Amino acid sequence: MSILVTGATGFIGSHFCVEALAQGLDLVLVDNFENSSEKVLDKIELLTGVKPDFHQVDLRDTEKLESLFKDYSFESVVHFAGYKAVGESSADPLMYYRNNIVGSLNLLEMMKRYEVNNLVFSSSATVYSDPVFNPYTEEHRKLPINPYGNTKSMFEDIMQDYAAANPHFSAVPLRYFNPIGAHPSGEMGEDPKGIPNNLMPFITKVAVGQLKELQVFGDDYDTVDGTGVRDYIHVMDLAEGHIRAIAFAENNTGYTPINLGAGKGYSVLEVIKAFEQQNNTSVPYKVVARRAGDLAQYWADATRAKDLLDWETQLTIEDMVKDSWGWQKKYPNGFNDC
Ligand code: WQD
Repeated sequence: MSILVTGATGFIGSHFCVEALAQGLDLVLVDNFENSSEKVLDKIELLTGVKPDFHQVDLRDTEKLESLFKDYSFESVVHFAGYKAVGESSADPLMYYRNNIVGSLNLLEMMKRYEVNNLVFSSSATVYSDPVFNPYTEEHRKLPINPYGNTKSMFEDIMQDYAAANPHFSAVPLRYFNPIGAHPSGEMGEDPKGIPNNLMPFITKVAVGQLKELQVFGDDYDTVDGTGVRDYIHVMDLAEGHIRAIAFAENNTGYTPINLGAGKGYSVLEVIKAFEQQNNTSVPYKVVARRAGDLAQYWADATRAKDLLDWETQLTIEDMVKDSWGWQKKYPNGFNDC
């Protein structure tokens, strides 16, 4: 029985595929290449020695999606596909709802039609928003403050309602904190189009000389040094968390949201310092005004992941900054250099 992987050539999806194929899982990869490069498929084969089945399918195309479910017998689905830029989601909410909600609903309806009962979903800590308490447990109330976060929270709710109505179904939304890092080989990594929104790809673009300096969004927060504190998690630790979640989904039923985070936070300045020291390079920066919508600090309570998946992060912030740099230094223009 195969595992369907949507968004398989994206940042998180591709690193999951490399790790899962290396562990012998039988995957069928799907992506529409809207936000990823098809060169990632060559990298997956390079790093695993496996050329998995791939189909270029958009989840909004129900006919092509159904042909997949007719051709394969899926045991489980790992659903990464979705738009993820917070600012873009506020600028064009309908694009986000059509892609992230309608696409995911098409997938779930096809799972129902073909009796596929295990779904691991790429969710996000962004569903929690302003912390009532830190660290966030899975019981923390959800209050997304942007359309991107709304799409993640809404599809979680759709999964919960469907699981309640279908006792054989297992729904596991994984709430990521801040994924960074890259494959330790330096052959794959984060490759955002245009100017990066997120901290780590911006840092690596400055370090490699493609951007002049990092703008630090505020140093007047009530945190260790005034800059924003986040729970960074290595993308390879995140990949392993999904592999454990598939096994859990296949051996349980019901709706089980799980945080995937390190359980500790680092400030922007601490990340810059770790990057410079680990990689013996400099990251020029300038403190500017806060970014609208940013929170001061939050990190994960990852107890449930340890209890249910026997999973916890293994890689350190030093591993994360080393591997992020290893990828960017080798390929300054990302997959365009490959
Ligand atoms: C991290 C810290 C910024 C860029 C977002 C999404 C979240 C998830 C991860 C998908 C903050 C600071 C950043 C910069 C900076 N994505 N920063 N200068 O905002 O915590 O989370 O990405 O699931 O859903 O909301 O991540 O990397 O943008 O910011 O000072 O150029 O770095 O203020 O404190 P964020 P981020």
